[in-house]
Amino acid sequence: MTAALPLYRIVATSSPEDALWEQVVALRLQVFAGEQGIADVQASDADDLTGVHALAIDDDAEVPTLIGAGRITFRHRGRNEALIAWVVTDPGRRKQGVGTGVMQALIAEADARGIEETLLAAQAHATDFYRALGFSPIGRPYESSGIPHQWMSRPLPRRRGLLGRVFSS
Ligand SMILES: CC(C)(COP(=O)(O)OP(=O)(O)OC[C@H]1O[C@@H](n2cnc3c(N)ncnc32)[C@H](O)[C@@H]1OP(=O)(O)O)[C@@H](O)C(=O)NCCC(=O)NCCS
Repeated sequence: MTAALPLYRIVATSSPEDALWEQVVALRLQVFAGEQGIADVQASDADDLTGVHALAIDDDAEVPTLIGAGRITFRHRGRNEALIAWVVTDPGRRKQGVGTGVMQALIAEADARGIEETLLAAQAHATDFYRALGFSPIGRPYESSGIPHQWMSRPLPRRRGLLGRVFSS
């Protein structure tokens, strides 16, 4: 049996090359400002320099083309917590698993660093998408930039093996 060729690759990087970084900012603007109509979108901020970016890249296009992205930053609230933000898939490539792939790369980064809790502010329409990735709602829904939101959280999975566990009789 011949395995299907991947349609895109996902890289996790703290320093995206310039051409891709321009596409990250452009995709954020296209979706959050253009599609969703959020006013005053600051498409890049200081946390972009310290965070890790998961980038879904289509290499079949003439030039490597960004089709999805997301960011994770660490030491959120000064704790061993991470914050995921700017999760976005190109409108023409949605419902093909791109967003899930981006999220899985960010989650893997959090787990590899032993992050106790990973948080995100989900737009309400996407809560089921995040739920399927292990996030649970915390607190009440709220509104930001006219869009209903819900904070969601995912704890570090506990190791399943017996090593290191304490038993009492
Ligand atoms: C949310 C978003 C990133 C999902 O990206 P995607 O590439 O379409 O996601 P996937 O294809 O991996 O979807 C995985 C699953 O989630 C579901 N899903 C995707 N978007 C969803 C949404 N908005 N609401 C509910 N379910 C959704 C898909 O149907 C799919 O389910 P399935 O596996 O049963 O078919 C994308 O819709 C997007 O960019 N939206 C605009 C920006 C945005 O709102 N970002 C989130 C801000 S918190």
